[in-house]
Amino acid sequence: MKIEIDGERLVREIEELAKISEAEPPVVTRVVFTPADLKARAWLKAQCQDAGLAIREDAIGNTFARWVGSDPRAPIVGTGSHIDAIPNAGRFDGVVGVLGGLEAIRALQRVRFRPTCSIELLIFTAEEPTRFGIGCLGSRLLAGTLSADAAAKLSDKAGCSVEDVRTQAGFTGSLGDVKLPPDYYKAFVELHIEQGPILERERKPLGIVERIAAPASLMITIEGSGGHAGGVLMPDRHDALCAAAELILAIEDAARSGGAIDTVATVGICDVFPGAINSIPARVRLGVDLRDTSLARRDAGLRALEGACRAIAAKRQVEINSELLNADAPAESDAAIVAVLRQACEKHGLSYLPMTSRAYHDSLFMSRIAPVAMLFIPCRNGYSHRPDEYASPEDIVKGTLVLAETLASLTS
Ligand code: GLV
Ligand code: MN
Ligand code: MN
Repeated sequence: MKIEIDGERLVREIEELAKISEAEPPVVTRVVFTPADLKARAWLKAQCQDAGLAIREDAIGNTFARWVGSDPRAPIVGTGSHIDAIPNAGRFDGVVGVLGGLEAIRALQRVRFRPTCSIELLIFTAEEPTRFGIGCLGSRLLAGTLSADAAAKLSDKAGCSVEDVRTQAGFTGSLGDVKLPPDYYKAFVELHIEQGPILERERKPLGIVERIAAPASLMITIEGSGGHAGGVLMPDRHDALCAAAELILAIEDAARSGGAIDTVATVGICDVFPGAINSIPARVRLGVDLRDTSLARRDAGLRALEGACRAIAAKRQVEINSELLNADAPAESDAAIVAVLRQACEKHGLSYLPMTSRAYHDSLFMSRIAPVAMLFIPCRNGYSHRPDEYASPEDIVKGTLVLAETLASLTS
């Protein structure tokens, strides 16, 4: 069986999907349940139908495209990723795993491979936290790590709830039914760009992910006191943005000074109220993302952050409250799937690096209900979550080929 990947078609499809965006090319912005997201879903379902896959969508919009195996009742082998994209993103994050997964299936069909158990391509809803403040909404519900009630109540900046938005988008079933039964997947493998510089630096075309770091995020609100930028003298001020500035630097310092390269902290949201040049900031909201490969260190980071909030609140006489949005455990890849991935690389003479994923992925949550592993391909300069994100056609083809071999081995 000589599997061949149609790289030209795959790259063409990646380009086509990139055009379905809320922003002008080369920027891709595709926030969940916006018209661009819905259009992209429709386009993708048509490609899956062309490949003869049977489509099912659940109540949160996770899409399952199934190639039915000769034993349709056997636990399934899954692959896939996401197509939602944060504001000002690129073409490859998530998309390589979805369109690469589809091409891997088509490549197996072309060599007349017949899987025993079914192979399912999964397109997860809202891997990105952009709209509802929490990443991996679809896979959290599939795994049951987020309850249907809690998910329904999440809302976006405009105050629209998940419940309202998803039903308006046409996903009307009960969120309680999204959770998958135990043993639904026999294995789940996700292909993704690395989103970091290591593979490129080490000149390796592939990375086999052995663990995924533990992510956490918080929304911190700082209440100071506002007033006239001319009238209120400096000794009388309780400027919420000045307190926020101090806190942001304390967060950076805590991550840098802990001595572990795997500790990372980011303040990616800073909303200032009322946001007028001649008004003292009365309230600031900070969105904080904190991750580590070590759960103990990540949790120590959360405690350090709480301490910094208390100290700065006392020093500046402001009120600081934090809401923990998520604090998830890390995941380990399944040794047997990792071994299959290694064999597939070796069969094709492709070198690989064992890796840790510092980004989170839907595989983090799939690991709670199935054996998982991930395959990384390099991205130029390690750039991701920006419009100049780039993965070469050669590396995309190599990743897709190894994925196809792996799916074949897991379903033979
Ligand atoms: C996923 O996009 C992440 O933030 O790791
Ligand atoms: Mn992303
Ligand atoms: Mn991603």
